[in-house]
Amino acid sequence: MRMRRKRNLEARVEACAPVLVARGKPCRNLKEAAENYRFLLDYKEVFGRTAPVELEVGCGNGAFIAELAKRERGCDFLAVEVCTNVVLTAMERVMEEGIGNVRFLNIAAEILPCYIPEGSIDRIYLNFSTPLPEAGREKQRLTSDRFLNIYKKLLKPGGEIVQKTDSEPFFDYSLHKFEEHGFKVLALSRDLHHSEFAKDNIVTEYEANFSSKGMPICFVRVAMQ
Ligand SMILES: C[S@@+](CC[C@H](N)C(=O)[O-])C[C@H]1O[C@@H](n2cnc3c(N)ncnc32)[C@H](O)[C@@H]1O
Repeated sequence: MRMRRKRNLEARVEACAPVLVARGKPCRNLKEAAENYRFLLDYKEVFGRTAPVELEVGCGNGAFIAELAKRERGCDFLAVEVCTNVVLTAMERVMEEGIGNVRFLNIAAEILPCYIPEGSIDRIYLNFSTPLPEAGREKQRLTSDRFLNIYKKLLKPGGEIVQKTDSEPFFDYSLHKFEEHGFKVLALSRDLHHSEFAKDNIVTEYEANFSSKGMPICFVRVAMQ
């Protein structure tokens, strides 16, 4: 079901300006933008310090990134979400809680290269990305070749990707793609909540919903070699 547009959306987004570092599309064609437009973030300016930077793609309501940022005060976090109506909840949460080490990009992940300097990210989180099983939509999956080629450019040497999903076919597809792109598996479970990795896990909004229905959660952490 489509979410109803939030009341006073634009005014509320404007009020979140202190945590919003990028918004919209630099031009109509995403491919052209990704290749030609550069508005690279200066992390020192954005966060007021130099620290490891981690990125979540498709942050949804921001519950995960807010909790992670509170746990990891020595790290800075960028949260990407294409839907303005959704990212507003995440931004308002971070503003209300006074969490200083999170900033948001309200953009499509396809244009991350416009904003994120190459080799600057320590870890990328992909939490419950839409599986998009239809063959014709493979390019839009957040672990397809198109996106892995982007992530490889943005990650530091040895940088990591952490994926969680309820969809085993999407998980298998992603594992295959990680291997094809030369990533090494550091940790893996097909039932995260009953595994040794459960104690450190931060449950996302979608994860809570899937696991309340008894669905096992797949989890993998991979590193660039
Ligand atoms: C299924 S929801 C999961 C939300 C959250 N990560 C969680 O686990 O609760 C996927 C989110 O990814 C966002 N998304 C999908 N494709 C995207 C893209 N190409 N760039 C940025 N965000 C995207 C959607 O708008 C949606 O909010």
